[in-house]
Amino acid sequence: MIPPSSVYDQRSRPLGVLRMSLTARCNLACPYCKPDGYEVSNPLSIDQRLALIESACRLGAHSLRLTGGEPLLSNQLEPLLREVSHRRYQLGDPLAALQEVTLTTNGLLLDSAKAHSLRQAGLDRITISLDAVEAARAAEMSGQQGGIKAGSIFLSKVYQAIQHARYAGFDPNQSQLKINSVIQRRRNYDQLIPLASMARKAGLELRLIEFMDVGTTNSWTHDQVVSGAEMVHAISQRWPLEPLGRLPGQTAQRWSYRDGGGTLGVIASISKPFCSDCNRLRITADGSAYTCLFSNKANSLRPWLFPQIDLEGLMEVMASLWSRRNDHYSEERYRQSSQPAPTHADMAYLGG
Ligand code: GTP
Ligand code: 5AD
Ligand code: SF4
Repeated sequence: MIPPSSVYDQRSRPLGVLRMSLTARCNLACPYCKPDGYEVSNPLSIDQRLALIESACRLGAHSLRLTGGEPLLSNQLEPLLREVSHRRYQLGDPLAALQEVTLTTNGLLLDSAKAHSLRQAGLDRITISLDAVEAARAAEMSGQQGGIKAGSIFLSKVYQAIQHARYAGFDPNQSQLKINSVIQRRRNYDQLIPLASMARKAGLELRLIEFMDVGTTNSWTHDQVVSGAEMVHAISQRWPLEPLGRLPGQTAQRWSYRDGGGTLGVIASISKPFCSDCNRLRITADGSAYTCLFSNKANSLRPWLFPQIDLEGLMEVMASLWSRRNDHYSEERYRQSSQPAPTHADMAYLGG
């Protein structure tokens, strides 16, 4: 039995969160992400994913986030959750280290049955992406043709998904249900106040995300980024805000509405990078590890997964990868220039 231990990187950052992508496919084509639509050619099995999770847990991971592409397109999602959940409650199992298991989704496939079965399978939190509340804009931001009509259908599905999640027990007051909105200056900046208004009324935390230069297909330029400070200023003109700060290892700075209207999150990776305490390891649907969202280096873990799983070898290679880690791309970009990142893996493949 290998004892659990924490591994630290070159910047003394512990491994804390495993972001595991289940599929590179997505059922939307948001302009800031632009997935190519292809699935990975050799996806991992559930047992292989469990071995990766176990290995990360033994090295200090306390949180598992399932991502995509769109993770609800993967038929592994519920069986994997059930296995993880079963093992989390076994005394002495390395997966008992998991304090939370979370999901980032666009919500389109989150019907009532799915929301209940995800909850029953042990999912703790869901974050749903939504970048507009006006129909035409919602269609544009989700990459759909068909203007207002398509946007209205899309919006009603996402709103229903939010309700289904709520009724299935994901409690927004315990941060178990949140909304992610990427804001781009000439695309959906006009949706900022309407999004905040919708989230306040629904009792949901809205997380405003600066448009990032991930991948190679979203035509990122610095002038499309709306800074977190500008977003907070605009919202506080309407509803005054009180800063709550950012907890170490988390992406979002949080604010509370002074009138008691809940909380707001801001993920300001461009203007206020949070690399100094980045604790996230990413693993793609085909078993490549990336230590930074902006890395162009895939570290394939497949040699320790095929032809059979070598758990000790996996732990060793993961520990060695993490302990060599020195990347802090957003901080470097912040200091150096406003140029986009050099070529690197796409968002839908990496999972954010
Ligand atoms: P919570 O645990 O609920 O706070 O979720 P999270 O913010 O860690 O994950 P989520 O999938 O909701 O991601 C929100 C945004 O943060 C997305 O735009 C991600 O791409 C971005 N993000 C997540 N991790 C990192 C990171 O390590 N670096 C950068 N630059 N962005 C990140
Ligand atoms: N910049 C910022 N956030 C992005 N996301 C996808 N692409 C980008 C980008 N270029 C967000 C999605 C989702 C999360 C996983 O990442 O909206 O909420
Ligand atoms: Fe972590 Fe890289 Fe994001 Fe910095 S840019 S927070 S190191 S993933």
